[in-house]
Order: sequence, then C-alpha cells, then structure tokens
Amino acid sequence: MPDRIASSLKGVVSRKSMFFFFTMTSFLFLMSWFFLLRSTGRPHFIDHNLLPNSKLDGTTKSQTQNPNVESSFGNRAILVDSEDVEESESSEKNGGRKCSRNDQVIVPKVFMYDMPSEFHFGLLDWKPSGKSVWPDVRAAIPGYAGGLNLQHSIEFWLTLDILASEISQASKARTVIRVRNSSDADIVFVPFFSSLSYNKYSKANPHEKKSGNKMLQEKLVKYLTAQEEWKRSGGKDHVILAHHPNSMLDARMQLWPATFILSDFGRYPPNIASVEKDVIAPYKHLISSYVNDASNFDSRPTLLYFQGAIYRKDGGWARQELYYLLKDENDVHFSFGSIQKDGVKKASEGMRSSKFCLNIAGDTPSSNRLFDAIASHCVPVIISDEIELPFEDVLDYSEFCIFVPTRDAIKEKFLINFIRSIGKKEWTRMWNKLKEVEHFFEYHFPSKEGDAVQMIWQAVARKVPAIRLKLNKDRRFSRFPPSTEKGLKSIPTPRNFW
Ligand SMILES: *[C@@H]1O[C@H](CO)[C@@H](O)[C@H](O)[C@H]1NC(C)=O
Repeated sequence: MPDRIASSLKGVVSRKSMFFFFTMTSFLFLMSWFFLLRSTGRPHFIDHNLLPNSKLDGTTKSQTQNPNVESSFGNRAILVDSEDVEESESSEKNGGRKCSRNDQVIVPKVFMYDMPSEFHFGLLDWKPSGKSVWPDVRAAIPGYAGGLNLQHSIEFWLTLDILASEISQASKARTVIRVRNSSDADIVFVPFFSSLSYNKYSKANPHEKKSGNKMLQEKLVKYLTAQEEWKRSGGKDHVILAHHPNSMLDARMQLWPATFILSDFGRYPPNIASVEKDVIAPYKHLISSYVNDASNFDSRPTLLYFQGAIYRKDGGWARQELYYLLKDENDVHFSFGSIQKDGVKKASEGMRSSKFCLNIAGDTPSSNRLFDAIASHCVPVIISDEIELPFEDVLDYSEFCIFVPTRDAIKEKFLINFIRSIGKKEWTRMWNKLKEVEHFFEYHFPSKEGDAVQMIWQAVARKVPAIRLKLNKDRRFSRFPPSTEKGLKSIPTPRNFW
C-alpha cells in the first residue's frame, strides 16, 4: 500500500517541480537569515545555548580532556549504544581513549529558587546565618535524617550538588551549573525536600486539622505560582522532587506541568506523570556497598533471598502467592519483616551470601530492595510488572537483572525451575555487570563522575529539548495574537499537552 502511494506521488510531483521547490525554499531560507542578521545582529529567538557549537565551548566536556577522572560509563557494554561499544572497547584495549558520543556530557544550567529554609535544610533543623538561605557547602554540610529517611534523600544530594557547582574546585567533575539569572537557565529547580517533609510531618497534631506536610505543600504551591519563572512557563521547565511515593500527594495535582523526580509511577495517574516527562531516580541503598567482593557462584550458599513485609495492599498480593510457592525450598530464604530494626546487618549478610535476590512489587512497584541487591552484587530477580527503572534510556537492565512476569512467577514451580536453570557462567556474567554498574546508584557529596547524582542530572538534561519544544509551542500565539476582539485576548494554552 505505501509503495503504491509513493509511486503515484512520483507521477504527480515531477523532478522538475521538485527541483524548483527545493531551490525556492533554499532561497527563501537564506533570505530570511539575511534579513534577520541585518535587523538584529543576532537572532534573539534562537536559543544559542542549544545550538551544538555554542554549547560545546563552555558547557560540554569530553572525558578525553579529563584524563584524571575515571570514565563515567566505566563499561560501555551496558549502555544501549552498540556502535560506540565496540569502538570504545577496542580503543581502550589499545591503551587509548577515543571520544565517542557517550563521552559528551551535557551540563544543564539550573536556576534554583532561594526559597525559605523551612522548605529544605530547615527540615533538618539547620538554621541560616546571615542573609543566605543556604548552608556554606565549603564548610560543614548539615546531616540528613538517618534510618529509612535516607532511601529518599535524593533531594539532599541534588541540592548540595547545585550549591557545590559554584565552587571552582568542584567544577571539574560537575554535571550541573547553577545560574543566578533564570533567563539563562535550562531548568528551574525547586528545592523542596518533599520526602523529608512527608516523613517528618505527615501526621497532624491532635489540635490541628492539617498536617505540617500538607501545610508546607500549600505554601509551596502559593510560593511557586507567584514566581515570574513559573508564570512564564506554566511550570513546564521546573524540576520538582517527589521521591517518596507518598510525598507531594496534594501539591502535585497543581504542579504537574513540571518534571518530577520520582521513584516510580505507582501512585500517579498517567496525565500527571509519565516516562516521557519525568525522571526516575534510584533509592539510596541502606545496605552498605560490598567492597572487595571475592565471592562467587559456589560460595554464595542461598539460591534466592527475599526479605520484606508479607502483606501489602495493591500490587503486593504476589508476595503472598510466592511465599507459599517457595517456602519449602531449602536453599530459598523467604522471610517477612521490614529491614528497620537490627535488619540492615542481617539483610546485608543474607544478600551477600545469596546468588539471586527477589524484588516483588509491594504497595508500590519499586522498592529500596533492588538497590540493596545491586550493592550486594546479588543478581536481582524482578517480579513487578509496573516497575520503572532509573536511567533505563541508557542502561540495559537485562544485562544484570532477571525479569519475570507476575503471571508466570505465580505458576507452580515456574520461578524456582527458572532460577535453577541459570548456571554458573550466566550468573557470573551478571555478577560482573553488577559490579560495573553499581556506582550509577551511589549518592555522594561532592558528587563523583557517573554517580547517581550526576546520572540524574544527565537524565534531566535529556528532558531539556522536549521542554524547549513545549515552551516554544506555547509561544506560537503569545507574541501576535490573531484576534484582538474582546474575550479572545488571551489565547488559552493547551492544557493537555502531554
Ligand atoms: C537576566 O538576563 C536577561 C536576558 O539576558 C536580561 O535582560 C536581564 O536584565 C537579566 N536580569 C538580571 C537581574 O540581571
């Protein structure tokens, strides 16, 4: 069918007219440039920051110019770009480093609101001294809240990284630049520690109607919608953190045009959050990294390890089913109980002595357990059909994770037979990959090349072109409204752009 259309088109559009059309468009294009350059010197509606050449000068660095820093994508085999894989692998073997496309790090320019400290470090009982609402990151940084709070601490690491980007010593490895004039920014960062606000203040005092968390979110909406930057874009170029699945439950309904940084989409309707618009960030693992892991397939006695709460609502029913299927296998560890109390040490020992670690959907599709498993080099077995994974546009998880659809996993003997069929060679391959990718999921201050903080900024940077597209589309009618009739003065912007 398409062939027929193409051949009939050929008849209509003759070569001659094609040539004429091409010449005319080229001519008109050149003319328009000529007039533009004459009238303004430099076309101001074109964002020069986004033109490859201007961006390459200052804000894109190539790792080949940075020999003392380890390659951020240590092993390119896990990155989805196969052409570059072969090239860089062979060049690294020869001792040289070739600049491949993956070596280009685009550094987003970020404007951060100087919001009152009650929205961020004030939640950590830090008090500003002097005029600045920010801690001086060259001196001591405030500590984050401990325990389970840490798994959602991305808000803390990202904000610190923005602050540190202004210090010259840190500039070598930076993947974000703070700009003070929002007109220069690619994105606007909203430094609200929403996960901490949820963890600390989600319970209302008996004599108050609303929880502190709810009130802070209301304050946030009020603050944001009053800002020039928000009004200018309708929030479309804003980045908002909502890593804890229960954080921002109230405000997100008003702030959804922004890009959210989330752990998954479990509690989000598709018009509020999506893979296209938003960024999935890893949990910070609670189990410490397995340094100098000298284990192997045979030295890890447990075949399959799971520790978690038994009954969770929503997607969590599969846990119960799997428990009954697996509980009588003698090399399977399946126990219930959250990791909270003395659990971290035990879970750490358990994961480090297991070949495979189960990740079953809980009340949300994602959980910290996956990142604990990666840190323990225990090959994750993921049974969570709705899970979204961090950086999946550049990471191929099938290289180091096993995915099993829930409908198969709950069939009698299916899972255990499947896991047993994975031999030493295959397992060792995945175990090696885990050691190569683990640093993508590590949060550091100062951030390190290719760690979770920098990977998140890179993921945000990859959203920038789509954000620009939306903003420019919105502007179509804003300069010269087609009608000045009463009531038509403001052209409504499409609300359901996504
Ligand atoms: C920010 O940049 C814009 C565009 O370059 C400029 O017009 C404006 O004056 C700047 N604002 C400040 C406060 O410097």
